[in-house]
Amino acid sequence: MFGCTRYRLPLAVAALLLATAARPAHADSTASEASIEALVARMTIEEKAGQLNLLSSDLTSTGPAAPADLDAAIRKGKVGGVFNVYGAAYAARLQHLAIEHSRLHIPLLLGFDVLHGYKTIFPIPLGQAASWDLEAIAKADRIAATEAAAAGVNWTYAPMVDVARDPRWGRVAEGAGESPWLGARIAEAEVRGLQGEALDRPDTVAACAKHFAAYGAAESGRDYNTVDISERTLREVYLPPFRAAIAAGVPCLMAALNDIDGLPAVANPHLLHDILRGDLHFDGLVTSDYGGVPELVVHGVAASTADAAREALTAGTDVDMQGGSYAKELPKLVASGAIPMAVLDAAVRRVLRLKARLGLFENPLRGVDPGRERRTLLTPDHLAAAADLARESIVLLSNDGHTLPLGPDVHRLAVIGPLADAAYDMMGPWSGAGDKGDVVTLLAGLRRKLGASVQLVTASGGTVERSTASDIADAIGVAKGADAIVLALGERQGMSGEAASRTSLDLPGDQMALVHAVARLGKPTVAILFNGRPLAVPDLVREVPAILEAWFPGTMGGTALADILVGDAEPVGRLPMTFPRSVGQIPIYHEQKATGRPPSADHYTSRYLDESTTPLFPFGWGLSYTEFSFGRPKLDHPSLRAGETVTVAVDVTNTGGRAGTAMVQLYIRDLVASVTRPLRELRGFQRVTLAPGETRTVRLALSADDLAFWRADMTYGTEPGRFLVMTGPNAADTRSVPLDLLP
Ligand code: NOJ
Repeated sequence: MFGCTRYRLPLAVAALLLATAARPAHADSTASEASIEALVARMTIEEKAGQLNLLSSDLTSTGPAAPADLDAAIRKGKVGGVFNVYGAAYAARLQHLAIEHSRLHIPLLLGFDVLHGYKTIFPIPLGQAASWDLEAIAKADRIAATEAAAAGVNWTYAPMVDVARDPRWGRVAEGAGESPWLGARIAEAEVRGLQGEALDRPDTVAACAKHFAAYGAAESGRDYNTVDISERTLREVYLPPFRAAIAAGVPCLMAALNDIDGLPAVANPHLLHDILRGDLHFDGLVTSDYGGVPELVVHGVAASTADAAREALTAGTDVDMQGGSYAKELPKLVASGAIPMAVLDAAVRRVLRLKARLGLFENPLRGVDPGRERRTLLTPDHLAAAADLARESIVLLSNDGHTLPLGPDVHRLAVIGPLADAAYDMMGPWSGAGDKGDVVTLLAGLRRKLGASVQLVTASGGTVERSTASDIADAIGVAKGADAIVLALGERQGMSGEAASRTSLDLPGDQMALVHAVARLGKPTVAILFNGRPLAVPDLVREVPAILEAWFPGTMGGTALADILVGDAEPVGRLPMTFPRSVGQIPIYHEQKATGRPPSADHYTSRYLDESTTPLFPFGWGLSYTEFSFGRPKLDHPSLRAGETVTVAVDVTNTGGRAGTAMVQLYIRDLVASVTRPLRELRGFQRVTLAPGETRTVRLALSADDLAFWRADMTYGTEPGRFLVMTGPNAADTRSVPLDLLP
């Protein structure tokens, strides 16, 4: 450990600080630029290449291990940042090495993937998206950033803003689902939450939106696979969340590992230069993903790591994450003239600017010390927020005969299934520094909630992967004497996330055999699904009357679920991704187009011989413990012009017997345009809480800008004509009103 965590400024750094002190903002950035220039002027080529070299520590990794002598590399100024760094003591140790022992005393970027919490783990991002609660999502990120920053992290590889329409791809768990519009709103909220009020505050981290771009379009849902999509689809579907993150001030993007239109993203000048710097006006830092630069050789677009480094840097990838190619090759490439010094300098400046914005030159340790770390992690407030968001993320998929909430007549409750008490799995993939010892499992949550009033009996019924006949027999023995049964089913945390693609979206292992056996008992049965992706489970829907989609709900998942099961909280979540009936329907999503032959009973239409074309559960789906009826949408004006907004009003009535919260979703359809347009595109949503019998009018704004798209000539804008404005409880159940966009 260190004698002191207070840092005495080296001269070069002090000069930078003095130059930027006590000035108005614009003067600040000018002064900071001047100081950065002065620093660049003092750097050797090796030190410049070092700033672009991002290495993993060996704390955790998703690829080949950390270099043997990370410390020595930092001392020599050969490393600009280290990732997989967490823990105040460890982070401070690395930072001390850089600022005290490297020649220019330049502080390190210290990165870590904080996707849905640092120590207090929130639901996986797909689950958070199911809450549609932008403020709660921003709050979760604020908490995650506060905890991570206290543990020495100053940079995170989040938010993951990849639109995803193929649930075979395991990384759908990390994003906000299939809607570019909802994804954009969530991207803004996440950047806002992570970065707080100012990047140089000690409770913030710099965000890095990933993976640029179209990583979610991997062919056949196989991770890292080729992407080949049209320019129109790229711009219309995959870029909006990045655009939104940039508008919200994200200072960093991560280039994706996949190739797109024949060129891997890290070496793709069209993507990184024309689109990112040109069209999206992004002036921040671009890092590769893990090993993305040397992988250009494996992709077959570079003959050597030297070529890979040259191609990536000149295309616009500033930082080489764990590839080692920049550190090794750039000095030679620049010395030989193969890369102009100006190109190297531009990338170095972007790294230094991010460090300056984080305040690292003035305050490299950002007040990090183990005491503050201990005080900041897992506070009661953080845990309460995690429970709140977990409650909001849960989606009631079905509830025949009002099986839920469980009533007072349940005196003996059987909790069956491999995930009933699976603390580690509850955290889901990319669970930061989360500790399973802090997790409230379903069983623990029910125990706390029900106390002695209900007798809980439990059996695993086997594992996620396998149930023997005797596992199932044991479970049935336990379930037989119960008044109601809760089945805890789904995936292990490692079955979704990175490198976790699946060809089957069934419940893994023998879980359906367990379900069939339990269902034969004919008791009130609720299935809770824990998973990182939409599952194709029509048999489960047939077999059990009630299903809750809980995703991987995080540290407080069991508390949230217990509240929902007994009706102390109502389910308000709505699906951010369509659930297919079978893998053969993929991709299936709400923005599909009409085609020239929409599916019908006629033979020569766009349909399947062996499967319906409708999903198991549509986008936006989610039931409540009460029922609602939605009126027809009404417009305050039947038409609008560029720059104008109309108000869409819809009456919602609670027709059930309990208070409850409905969500109105607003979709549009462009009926005739210069290119084919989706049947529906989300453009707004709003929740409303209603007493039994109560009706309220929900009003949503729709602007002419909301009607814009990439036109036939690949310009972005509107086209006059008729639109349908649709409202309803989900994408498959809407009522419409026409709206004319006037020239
Ligand atoms: C590889 C993943 O693709 C990326 O999302 C992550 O940020 C890096 N590893 C760093 O852990």
